[in-house]
Amino acid sequence: MCQLAGGPCQYKGPDMKLAHAEMDIDKAHFNALVEVLQKSMSARGIPFSAQNRMLALLAPMHRDIINVK
Ligand code: HEM
Repeated sequence: MCQLAGGPCQYKGPDMKLAHAEMDIDKAHFNALVEVLQKSMSARGIPFSAQNRMLALLAPMHRDIINVK
């Protein structure tokens, strides 16, 4: 998330497909994560506009992370 938000940190771990392989993650799991992130960001006083920008950067990753229907 730090890297996506513009850095300066750099993620050096496995790609998202590999990191979540064989975890049976479905759409509901992914949506639950989004809800938790929203609550966490709100609790930190992060404005909705910035929250939405972060979530918009994460959203396309569902293609690599959701691996069961
Ligand atoms: C945009 C959404 C997500 C991002 C950016 C993300 C990112 C990551 C990253 C960076 C790791 C560490 C990989 C490594 O270093 O090996 C990880 C691990 C993991 N993720 Fe995700 N993830 C996302 C969604 C999810 C969802 C929806 C679930 C399940 C509800 C999930 C479950 C896990 C689990 C169980 C691990 C392994 C944790 C561990 O071994 O300590 N992730 N994720």
